[in-house]
Amino acid sequence: MLLLAPGIRYYPDYLDPVEQAALVQDIRAVVAEAPLYIPAMPKTGKEMSVRMTNCGTLGWVTDKERGYRYQAIHPVTQRPWPPIPAKLLALWNDVGNYPLPPEACLVNFYAETAKMGLHQDRDEQNLVAPVVSVSLGDTCLFRFGGTERNGKTQSIKLKSGDVVVLGDDGRLAFHGVDRIYPGTSTLLKDTGRINLTLRRVTAS
Ligand code: SIN
Ligand code: FE2
Repeated sequence: MLLLAPGIRYYPDYLDPVEQAALVQDIRAVVAEAPLYIPAMPKTGKEMSVRMTNCGTLGWVTDKERGYRYQAIHPVTQRPWPPIPAKLLALWNDVGNYPLPPEACLVNFYAETAKMGLHQDRDEQNLVAPVVSVSLGDTCLFRFGGTERNGKTQSIKLKSGDVVVLGDDGRLAFHGVDRIYPGTSTLLKDTGRINLTLRRVTAS
């Protein structure tokens, strides 16, 4: 484990290639039940470049009318999200250093040109529990800073199997994905990157 900044822990190669392939199978099953959809920004309705779905009792969603929030059902199918795969619950227990299980696992799919602007994860009632992030597929350029939007940032390449934890003083760090590097991994059938973020939403 490497401490990238206060509260930002980096576990390079946390998952070996066999574990990554098994996790991708689990995520394919999640996506079969809860299809990826195109999220839209609050107010403007501008489509994000990332495709999203969730598993867990709660999922993070966003749309023009109601903005960022957690809800128990898929916005398109109107069905409950599928459960979080056991492998991810085990991963949370190993690196999360938090006594309660995650409630939400956001699944972000980045096609070749997708990216994610700098933001804080702060839609959770619980800002004490960490955010645990797993990278699968193509390498990305991940940027992170402090708790001020215009503060200094650093960048790191996250590759398939890497895990990052935003906890403690790093919980509200600004972060985003500037680009992905298509073709840097053969894990997925095609190019692209999957990011999984595990979160505890409620306080108890
Ligand atoms: C996110 O902040 O939701 C995603 C971060 C990432 O894709 O690594
Ligand atoms: Fe985030």
